Amino acid sequence: MIDIHTHILPGLDDGPVHMEESLAMCRMAAEDGAVAIVVSPHMFNDAYNVTREDILRGVALLQRRLQAENVRLTIRPGADVRVVPDLDGLLRQGLVMTLGNSGKYLLVELPQDVLPMGLSQLLFSIQLLGITPIISHPERILDVQEDPSVMIEFVEAGNMVQLTAASITGDLGDRPQKCAFALISGRLAHLVASDAHSIHGRPPGLSQAAARMQKLLPPEEVEDILFHRPLRILAGEYINLPEPRKPNTDRRKRLSWGWTVRSGRTC
Ligand SMILES: [Fe+2]
Repeated sequence: MIDIHTHILPGLDDGPVHMEESLAMCRMAAEDGAVAIVVSPHMFNDAYNVTREDILRGVALLQRRLQAENVRLTIRPGADVRVVPDLDGLLRQGLVMTLGNSGKYLLVELPQDVLPMGLSQLLFSIQLLGITPIISHPERILDVQEDPSVMIEFVEAGNMVQLTAASITGDLGDRPQKCAFALISGRLAHLVASDAHSIHGRPPGLSQAAARMQKLLPPEEVEDILFHRPLRILAGEYINLPEPRKPNTDRRKRLSWGWTVRSGRTC
């Protein structure tokens, strides 16, 4: 598995404070089955604004420490980039860290309550730079919880969607979980990441979410979500996505988009 969204570099944002906790988080990720993780500190967030140089320096340092301690985990640069009105201009100036530093995929963090006005146009202006925006954890946004089908427009416009693993497992509560399942049912969830912040609060690890998704999706789709698509993102390669469908928001119904429902409660 490859985790494309983690706050794991020490002392930069609301992730770990010290290198020892970073190392412990990396060990947890590796033991859980991750082969690579992308560090994604906050950029242009009100509270934190980490620079590209900070991230590249942090990645090199953390990777060296992991090698010294024989932890088999590849660390790649990235960022959790808050939508700001001039984001396309900041990208043009080379001030924004893309996933894997490939210049092809950008993890975009939205406000937690509403979808901002003008979001579609901003995302389109990013696409015009040859960059695919990945909207991080929309299932945690109130507007999307109210109506998950609002994400169809964004996906049809060429944007991707990343869910938080803890939303799928239910650790973030009922509403994010219900919304996550609805987005999965509509083929509107292309990636799942831990968004890990610490050993305890929101720890690294994707295996529990993977097990949950195995009950909802064919195994090859789960592999795409947790490994093949992240790998292509880090290589800066094109990703062919499934056509979205209307999300199933009725928890009593089984998923009905034509894939085999393997077992268990579906939504
Ligand atoms: Fe994050």
